[in-house]
Amino acid sequence: MAEEPGAAFPLDANGRDAAEIPHHVAIIMDGNGRWAEDKGLPRLEGHRAGVEKIRSVLDALARRRVKFVTIYAFSTENWNRPDDEVEGIMSILRDVIHQETRALHEQGVRVVHLGRSDRLLPDLREAVSQAQDLTQHNTAITLCVAFDYGGRSEIVEAVRQIVRSGAKPEEVDEKLLSSHLYTHDIPDPDLIIRTGGEYRLSNFLLWQSAYSEFYTTTVPWPELSATHVEEAICAYGRRKRKFGALTPDP
Ligand code: FPP
Repeated sequence: MAEEPGAAFPLDANGRDAAEIPHHVAIIMDGNGRWAEDKGLPRLEGHRAGVEKIRSVLDALARRRVKFVTIYAFSTENWNRPDDEVEGIMSILRDVIHQETRALHEQGVRVVHLGRSDRLLPDLREAVSQAQDLTQHNTAITLCVAFDYGGRSEIVEAVRQIVRSGAKPEEVDEKLLSSHLYTHDIPDPDLIIRTGGEYRLSNFLLWQSAYSEFYTTTVPWPELSATHVEEAICAYGRRKRKFGALTPDP
């Protein structure tokens, strides 16, 4: 992030952003494949362009003082894509970790992996683990990368851990289950943005999205601009969040 996060935006008397800003923005980065195909390019070129986009969107969100960003990079169902696409995405992840981790660390970004690591090749698993370890104490912004992530699988794994721990049925509550999710120390997303024009969650943060605001745009992920990000944040600012009550949350 080149600029001081938030420098371009007005603050209120308490030093907070004047507009309502989501604390945690989660993004379904859809439309890479169609973007590439529309240009007569291989689908992997769409994913490569998609990776380039992550940095500028992270910058735009950091300038707005968003503290947590989650990106959906590879789902538990994405293994069902053709081998060359899966291998290509794994190779992109490997390149991104090697090329970006140092810079992210210097900018105070904490990187957190959400998802299974047991199906990653050992070198990739090790690289993911090292990136997390290196950045674990950073506080500027947390970037959660959902990779081999599925909401259902996450909940099943949490239930398995609870059963293994010998907890009594009456001891199982929402707090306990949350504490066994990959996101145990990450707040629920306030805003979920989906690019690429579809209207579904696709197994993303199923538990955590119970009261998230949802924003979709037809813009494919590789074409999302800082202005589009701003539009999503403004749309969020106009929502009245009531969390099931009759009055908005104070
Ligand atoms: C959805 O587009 C995107 C994905 C399934 C993968 C996104 C992956 C990246 C941006 C690269 C890897 C990221 C990291 C951080 C290593 P789609 O292929 O479903 O697009 P389509 O709906 O147009 O086919």
